[in-house]
Amino acid sequence: MKIAVGSDHAGVQLKHDIIAVLAAEGYEPIDCGAYTEDSVDYPDIAENVAREVLQKNILGILICGTGIGISIAANKIPGIRAALCNDLFAARLAREHNDANIVAIGSRITGSGLAEEIVKTFIKTSFAAGRHQRRVEKITALENKFRERV
Ligand code: RB5
Repeated sequence: MKIAVGSDHAGVQLKHDIIAVLAAEGYEPIDCGAYTEDSVDYPDIAENVAREVLQKNILGILICGTGIGISIAANKIPGIRAALCNDLFAARLAREHNDANIVAIGSRITGSGLAEEIVKTFIKTSFAAGRHQRRVEKITALENKFRERV
């Protein structure tokens, strides 16, 4: 199972740790950058990961200092549902209720141990569908509605 992983400069070390954990668990992480701690712009990394997620129909992980900027950027891309998760409960419900396809983490907020557990919980949890299906479809409808307005 492939997983797209990306971070800006603030999250390079955490990305490295998460990639190692994913590989140890038998996943195939796709490293979408950044590859050094030289300053980069988080929307560029959000786009790299979002393209992999949409083209391969896989899950993704995005990291920046807070997880905020990179999740806002990713959520501008139709088809992406990026959830900023600071705890395990949010990570589980982001999949069960929201069918999130990207989890965003703040490297300056969440320690590596918790971040690794958030990632594992996110990846191992399935969308519950049922009453949540209609709500997720309404998110897609919003994308389509406002795409026509610009
Ligand atoms: C970079 O300094 C920082 O702004 C970025 O990593 C992120 O926290 C933005 O939301």
